[in-house]
Amino acid sequence: PQKSNWRVWTEKDVQKSWVKRETNAHKGLFGTGLLIAGSHEMPGSAALAASSAMRFGIGKLTVNTTQHASAIIGPIVPEVTFLYHTYEELVRSEWKNRRFTCAAIGPGLDPTDDLEKLVTYLLKQNVPLILDAGAIQSRSYPRGEKPIILTPHPGEFSRLLQLSTKEIQENRIELASEYAVTHHVILILKGEYTVIAFPDGTGYINTTGNASLAKGGSGDALTGMLLASIEGNDCVKAAVLNAVYIHGVCSDEWVRKYSEHTFVSSDFSSLLPMICKSFE
Ligand code: APR
Ligand code: MG
Repeated sequence: PQKSNWRVWTEKDVQKSWVKRETNAHKGLFGTGLLIAGSHEMPGSAALAASSAMRFGIGKLTVNTTQHASAIIGPIVPEVTFLYHTYEELVRSEWKNRRFTCAAIGPGLDPTDDLEKLVTYLLKQNVPLILDAGAIQSRSYPRGEKPIILTPHPGEFSRLLQLSTKEIQENRIELASEYAVTHHVILILKGEYTVIAFPDGTGYINTTGNASLAKGGSGDALTGMLLASIEGNDCVKAAVLNAVYIHGVCSDEWVRKYSEHTFVSSDFSSLLPMICKSFE
């Protein structure tokens, strides 16, 4: 990538692109999201993504998950509704009836063939789509107008590119940018100094966040925030960059007061109201 195409996304950038709600706003303006996440073994992943999406402003959210997972998610996020479809059932019927305006898939899910079929189907629906964790697999992407966002951590990106994690980490910007441009997707390569590469060859480096985020569940919260952000801001770049930026700021605020060992992903829910307010 050309160096001139890359820069740091700053607090000022967030302030400038922050969207205020109109006084006559209604929930239909902020997206009707479908989150396909959570399993018997990882119900919390869906709870964390869902609660972060609600806190970050999404209008409505439906979680497709297992009954077992929903019994755990419901008490944590009573604002969401549930679907209990198999991936095959989702492909067959549900999308057409529900008019979802955006979707995120992957947290807490295994990368199976059935899941891949569902992702292929979702890619054709012409809505913003966030692919995380189990939904990050090698495939091709259609060149639609709606953003497709991949959120690998270095290990997931290493699987995708068939390169070692060391090679990934030594060439984060180059590899992320190459992938984004070639596949026409937005690639968020997570970790310290998260790299956000866009299909037009531009890219940003995020400077917020700290090692308190190095704990299971942090990425799930980011997925939820991205889903809400993309529906709350007409500028796709700002939406993505602000979600990553503010995700990090939450943890930076935490370590100002508390031990860096003690942050947990559930804390995003109580930090977001204050952090978001500081941009209004
Ligand atoms: N400095 C700054 N940010 C960090 C640091 C650090 N040292 N360490 C981690 N982070 C941030 C990353 O940038 C990213 O936003 O924390 C987040 C970690 O995301 P993941 O690696 O995806 O972690 P996690 O939420 O545990 O992933 C669990 O993945 O295995 C799947 O299905 C499983 O949904 C589950 C999920
Ligand atoms: Mg993850």
